[in-house]
Amino acid sequence: MQKIAVIGTGYVGLVSGTCFAEIGNRIICCDVDEQKIEMLKRGVVPIYEPGLKELIEKNVAAQRLLFTSNVGEAIEAADIVYIAVGTPMSETGEADMKYVKAVAKKIGEHLNGYKIVVNKSTVPVGTGELVRQIIFNHRKYPAVHFDVVSNPEFLREGSAIADCMNMDRAIIGSTSEKAAKVIADLHAPFGTRIFTTDLESAEMIKYAANAFLATKISFINAIANICERVGADVTEVSAGMGLDSRIGSKFLQAGIGYGGSCFPKDTYALAHIADQSGYDFELLKAVIRTNDRQRLLVLDKLGHALGQLEGKRIAVLGLAFKPNTDDMRYAPSLTIVPELVRMGAAVRAFDPVAATAARSMLPEAVGYFDSVEETIEDCDACVILTEWAEIAGMDLTKVQKLMRAAVVVDGRNCFSQETMQQHGIAYHSIGRRP
Ligand code: NAD
Ligand code: UGA
Repeated sequence: MQKIAVIGTGYVGLVSGTCFAEIGNRIICCDVDEQKIEMLKRGVVPIYEPGLKELIEKNVAAQRLLFTSNVGEAIEAADIVYIAVGTPMSETGEADMKYVKAVAKKIGEHLNGYKIVVNKSTVPVGTGELVRQIIFNHRKYPAVHFDVVSNPEFLREGSAIADCMNMDRAIIGSTSEKAAKVIADLHAPFGTRIFTTDLESAEMIKYAANAFLATKISFINAIANICERVGADVTEVSAGMGLDSRIGSKFLQAGIGYGGSCFPKDTYALAHIADQSGYDFELLKAVIRTNDRQRLLVLDKLGHALGQLEGKRIAVLGLAFKPNTDDMRYAPSLTIVPELVRMGAAVRAFDPVAATAARSMLPEAVGYFDSVEETIEDCDACVILTEWAEIAGMDLTKVQKLMRAAVVVDGRNCFSQETMQQHGIAYHSIGRRP
């Protein structure tokens, strides 16, 4: 049993803190956002993540999981301090390190005994050393020692609990063998593979992994665009490619490109790190450009299907960047919906969970509805942006009946063309024959 403070109670801190509690540790999750902490104390989970509420309730009841906005106290009470604050994209594309730096200062000020400081946030190479220096410079008790470890997080939103409890591997980077062993032992109940390495390589592994996955997505999207032009079907192509175990079938789903709080910011950040190191990462820059263009494809397809979009009534199905999350950060809908409104379309939107978060981020003219059926009523076309189960499983007979014109532009390739044809729906998807 370890006493752990997790600083930053967002998607990563809250999920990993809860999972560390679930395997028997005593966790204090802390955050400067007092409102968030108050909600958690009242049993209200501030984010949508399947299974999280139940797991929090179980571990709070077992007195293994506590919440506080007193970050200093949480640090003092812990032997291991996890940093899990945001590292958002700054205006210049690099990771904004202000939250990590503020936490490092706070740790220094409250370092009342030996502690292992573990960085879980996604950070540029060199951050471990930067954190070490900041803590060192702000130490209240100069005789007190500490070690710094990098232990990046690989969970996905929407399946975060399962990803955390069954993680593929734990990457542990440190200059201290002793500290690395403590963090490796902490992960033993997860039964995962442990990969220990140096601090800098651990930090790079996280960016390289995300950039590689983003590259797979942009690659298959580029192939999809070629498929459309030469008469092949990208779903067949990715299925066939994926059978090669060297390639693998995952992350080869063509569509409107990646969004979310990670791939967009981390690809930009890595390109920036490369530039600063004197290496022009042209490959990654092309991945980013391909992704930016891919988002606009559904607008082209709508234009081809309907001609002018002005005055047309368009249903947008799905607003979150992927299913099973309320996260709207860098969601493709944030580019596509304002553009539809700008072109004069009347937009009716549906998302089973993210609609509340979307309201403050999308144009006021957008109307929100509680079901697919209500949203598509009398529409000239519908656009699928997120493959939520209720959208990928929508009743196509109703779609055909309720819409003014049964035109579906599917940015996530949820349906087979044969099925859509059988239902009399004009179907436009990504990378497949018309
Ligand atoms: P988030 O924005 O959801 O949460 C960050 C939290 O940190 C916020 O609640 C904020 O109030 C808090 N915070 C900021 N400054 C603080 C301070 N000084 N003291 C205490 N709390 C403070 O972010 P997130 O999505 O959980 O991501 C956190 C990090 O993990 C990022 O570096 C991200 O790239 C990385 N990551 C995210 C995911 C994911 O799926 N979201 C997965 C893997 C890694
Ligand atoms: C991603 C990584 O998968 C996690 O391992 C990582 O920890 C996380 O980023 C992070 O660093 O924060 P996440 O962004 O939650 O996780 O979700 P993904 O399932 O990876 O999807 C990202 C985006 O790519 C979504 O918009 C999704 O629709 C898109 N995608 C994914 C595709 O377009 N095609 C695919 O084949 C797979």
